[in-house]
Amino acid sequence: MNDLRVNNISRSFGGLQALQGVSFDVASGNVHGLIGPNGAGKTTLINILSGVLAPTSGEVFYRDQALHRVPAHRVAAMGVARTFQNIRLFPTMTCLENVQAGHHLTAPRPLLPRLLRLPSAGREDRELAAKSRGILARVGLDAKDSHLAKNLSYGERRRLEIARALSFRPRLLLLDEPVAGMRRAEAAEVANLVRSLAGEGMTILLIEHNMSFVMNLCSRITVLNFGRVITTGSPEEVRGHREVIEAYLGSGGHDA
Ligand SMILES: Nc1ncnc2c1ncn2[C@@H]1O[C@H](COP(=O)(O)OP(=O)(O)O)[C@@H](O)[C@H]1O
Ligand SMILES: [Mg+2]
Repeated sequence: MNDLRVNNISRSFGGLQALQGVSFDVASGNVHGLIGPNGAGKTTLINILSGVLAPTSGEVFYRDQALHRVPAHRVAAMGVARTFQNIRLFPTMTCLENVQAGHHLTAPRPLLPRLLRLPSAGREDRELAAKSRGILARVGLDAKDSHLAKNLSYGERRRLEIARALSFRPRLLLLDEPVAGMRRAEAAEVANLVRSLAGEGMTILLIEHNMSFVMNLCSRITVLNFGRVITTGSPEEVRGHREVIEAYLGSGGHDA
């Protein structure tokens, strides 16, 4: 079964055609890579899938529901969460609070018990904290739950971004360059996390420039260049594809 169907998506910014007739499917429980040189339109596509941008034309279906007209604040409730290429956290909040903030958005709790300070409110708070600590543990940040986000290392902030996305309890997770700037060991931990999430049935679409990361992790890869799909295939198919090789050589190799 396909979780995600991207059908003939185009998006322009003024005269610039950022995406042109992009189509591909992502199967349930798969880790699907989205690669391509800088400016290829990868982030624009994730922005469309997460409701941040509307497409100029085309459609996106998530489990047969039209996703292309759903605004960002409702996409999370449909089971779709994302991380950002440029990390977006609450810098002066703790790790735990950053994760809890996401949870509050998807599971708004009745206000009255909290206003009346009923015992159920305290219990819910403790349950939420326990759940959020569990998510922090999954990304290896449980020891830093009370640290402020701004005091984390770069790689830790990237992992906290993933934890924040997981707090929405997504079935489809969109990761925009999750290991950019990470050391090799840290990237390997993120690869293990992505594998275990997919093993639990989560569908993952990820953008990444780190080729060994993508090739080892993804079962299918879609390659974009100048807003168009060059090919979608297995890592082996993509690696040997003439236009893919040319696109990467033509762009001067990996970019930032
Ligand atoms: N909000 C925007 N306004 C104008 N141009 C944009 C905007 N977002 C992206 N673009 C342009 O669209 C193209 C694709 O950008 P992007 O999707 O960020 O590429 P990638 O993530 O593959 O590097 C680029 O030429 C970029 O400058
Ligand atoms: Mg990008």
